[in-house]
Amino acid sequence: MSSATGLFVTFEGGEGAGKSTQIRRLADALRAKGHDVLVTREPGGSPGAEAVRHVLLSGAAEAYGTRMEAILFAAARNDHVEEVIRPALGKGKVVLCDRFMDSSRVYQGVTGNLEADFIETLQRVAVDGVVPDCTLILDLPAKAGLERARRRGAAVATAPDRFEKEELETHEKRREAFLDIASREPERCHVVNAMQTEEAIADEVVSIVDQLLAPIDALKMVEPAHE
Ligand code: TYD
Repeated sequence: MSSATGLFVTFEGGEGAGKSTQIRRLADALRAKGHDVLVTREPGGSPGAEAVRHVLLSGAAEAYGTRMEAILFAAARNDHVEEVIRPALGKGKVVLCDRFMDSSRVYQGVTGNLEADFIETLQRVAVDGVVPDCTLILDLPAKAGLERARRRGAAVATAPDRFEKEELETHEKRREAFLDIASREPERCHVVNAMQTEEAIADEVVSIVDQLLAPIDALKMVEPAHE
């Protein structure tokens, strides 16, 4: 566990998997039970990382290659961890983060064709021990996810970002890569079928996180936090 009383939960998956909706629902459910919840996202989540987000998603860094992009994602992640995530966990908060280190493994490592060693070294530096307690991988076929993402983009009149623009085959590879991480790290990762109804997904997500919070809540009852 990354902290004695906080809980660090990350959401991962391809485009259009419904991560933001599910994070919002989980945050509401946890707050209703009295938990102190922090919702954040990557790339971004801290002022320094939000500045780098713009460079990455606009495609401004694309011309300098995937290695440069991977290092920028890691720089943003480290700032986010040190400025926001680690302090929140230290205060016993439940931190819900939209994408984290597994996105770099998949987007920059697998479909960006960067060596696994290079990506793992970057992640070690970026997270500096702040590894998610739980990662929820929202899984759906790439075609269904892209259709959803494009409908959403059309509704709010935004153009696809640097990473959304890529081919269906690339998105399908990313899906496989997330599933591969889940099978290698079954303790941390939970695959959730994102083709279910929004309610069914939310129920599954809440029940996974509730199970993880039970021992932490029990500990807090025995040792109330000192203000
Ligand atoms: P965002 O607008 O946050 O969309 P969403 O998470 O809903 O897809 O875009 C983030 C994009 O950045 C997304 O296409 C995935 C990509 N990304 C990486 O390539 N590597 C990373 O480490 C992270 C965090 C994101």
